[in-house]
Amino acid sequence: MMEKDAKIYVAGHRGMVGSAIWRQLEKEGYTRLTGRTHTQLDLTVQSQVDLFFAEEKPDYVFLAAARVGGIGANSAQLADFMYENMMIEMNVIRAAFVNGVKKLEFLGSSCIYPRLAPQPMKEDCLLTSALEETNEAYALAKISGLKYCEYLNRQYGTDYISVMPTNLYGKNDNYHPAHSHVLPALIRRFHEAKEQGKESVTCWGDGSPLREFLYVDDLAELAVFLMNRYSGNETVNAGTGKEITIRALAEMIAGIVGYEGKILWDTTKPNGTPRKLLDVSKAASLGWTYKTELEDGIRLAYEDFLLLKEKGEVRA
Ligand SMILES: NC(=O)c1ccc[n+]([C@@H]2O[C@H](COP(=O)([O-])OP(=O)(O)OC[C@H]3O[C@@H](n4cnc5c(N)ncnc54)[C@H](OP(=O)(O)O)[C@@H]3O)[C@@H](O)[C@H]2O)c1
Repeated sequence: MMEKDAKIYVAGHRGMVGSAIWRQLEKEGYTRLTGRTHTQLDLTVQSQVDLFFAEEKPDYVFLAAARVGGIGANSAQLADFMYENMMIEMNVIRAAFVNGVKKLEFLGSSCIYPRLAPQPMKEDCLLTSALEETNEAYALAKISGLKYCEYLNRQYGTDYISVMPTNLYGKNDNYHPAHSHVLPALIRRFHEAKEQGKESVTCWGDGSPLREFLYVDDLAELAVFLMNRYSGNETVNAGTGKEITIRALAEMIAGIVGYEGKILWDTTKPNGTPRKLLDVSKAASLGWTYKTELEDGIRLAYEDFLLLKEKGEVRA
């Protein structure tokens, strides 16, 4: 268990996941949290990372900093996604090891699993067949981070773990028109269509793909839970185990936002993988399950979007 007065470094503490982990740690009474913004500390630069760890000497580390993006950004900038993510991971995990960090938790993503993995995807399907091409570079970087933790554990007996979340959404999400994920992108599009009185909104594909979504505060609760209660080389999936079609998701978001126009589907655009669902039985067997139902979570995310918009602080 982490001591309540232990020094805990949350890398990426202003991102969606990092800020949720920070809130969760505060909620659970941890008093010595530390973080640096990207401008204060560029995690791709090894000398900066080494200096930070040598000076700060954290006891525990949550690694939630990453170059993140949707399918468009991922496939257009394969080299940058690989380089930046590999550098962040290697620099932070290595510096943690060198400076005797007691435990580190690495945040990955369900895109590490093979494109045609049997559904729902279990942790042990990792590296059993080819990856999805559009985010292969990102996935390879994430697999390397996970494996580096495992290799340190095996070679040096460290206690470094990883968690692989499904699609996340919630407070402090990224609403960039080109770089955001599907759920925040739909919130923004329906909100703007409502404001502009648009008669219709056109979405990509036919709406049939099935996807899973986890509210980020639930993930943060699991992240802290695992830091305190899980050790092992195999990663842990984080999801709800429930899926919804993109069409039903779009209708749900339009309803919550109050958009009353038509939703059209552009079937000349790709659908993506038909189904992507995590098997969450391992997290369940450890004693964790998600709390926030999708509709409630989207309401909370939309409230946060409106609040940020009012303050001019929407990340976009
Ligand atoms: N969002 C999802 O749906 C989702 C799903 C599964 C897994 N995850 C995982 O969760 C983790 C965090 O994702 P997120 O959604 O929270 O992303 P995010 O909101 O974009 O946050 C990423 C954070 O990392 C920081 N960062 C990026 N490059 C950096 C650098 N070179 N030096 C220092 N800081 C840097 C960013 O700072 P700046 O903004 O200042 O650059 C930002 O605060 C990632 O590992 C991701 O794979 C996310």
